[in-house]
Amino acid sequence: MSYQAAMHGSTGCRLDSTVTNMLICRVDDLEIHILEPKDAAKLEGLKQGYTSYRNEWIYNGKAEDFITGSLQRFNSNQGFWAGVWWKGQLAGVVGLNEVNHWNRSANIDYMLGAAFRGKGIVTRAVKALIDYCLDQLNLNRIEIHVDPENVKSCAVPERLGFKKEGVLRQKIFYGDSFGDKAIYAVLSSEWHKPAAKAK
Ligand SMILES: CC(C)(COP(=O)(O)OP(=O)(O)OC[C@H]1O[C@@H](n2cnc3c(N)ncnc32)[C@H](O)[C@@H]1OP(=O)(O)O)[C@@H](O)C(=O)NCCC(=O)NCCS
Repeated sequence: MSYQAAMHGSTGCRLDSTVTNMLICRVDDLEIHILEPKDAAKLEGLKQGYTSYRNEWIYNGKAEDFITGSLQRFNSNQGFWAGVWWKGQLAGVVGLNEVNHWNRSANIDYMLGAAFRGKGIVTRAVKALIDYCLDQLNLNRIEIHVDPENVKSCAVPERLGFKKEGVLRQKIFYGDSFGDKAIYAVLSSEWHKPAAKAK
């Protein structure tokens, strides 16, 4: 399979601005769709009341520009940001980032609106996205990079059976201080072992 076909799945499907409801996967009460311009207002709505460990949001500037950038990345086979829809509501987003086709690796990022935490939504969404990455995109290694002090975020890869491979010290500059980055990873060979995943 070519890398391009691999990145867009076995159907070779590509996204352009006319495609609607680009579904990555559906699992139980969750749906994961590539973010589209029509989602901009809902994404901005998610930002209201948002809290995070270091108060970071996933983009600066306008939601529309962020979504356009995500679609461009998708069309050039460099990953995407997708909305996580829970019971019809946009609950959060997951990102497929730093896609390396040669090495068949990528990173996953995630965030949830404050009202949607504590329900297992991100764990289940990330699990579904990993299935998609390994089975449809033919990737081999998935990483999650986390601030080691962000306990809720570290719990996601730990719950899914990732291995913690180390901590990159003072990897990130937050504007007023440096922060470490923990690297978690799972390999295709590990993921496909029945006991590897949290159920
Ligand atoms: C990181 C973040 C997404 C984690 O959210 P979360 O709600 O803890 O994660 P999940 O949706 O997987 O839910 C897990 C919680 O639901 C519970 N849960 C309920 N049903 C569950 C199920 N079926 N599967 C897994 N967990 C379930 C778990 O016990 C856990 O609760 P606990 O923390 O009290 O033990 C959220 O804190 C966030 O958005 N933070 C800000 C952004 C951020 O830090 N992003 C990470 C950057 S890498």
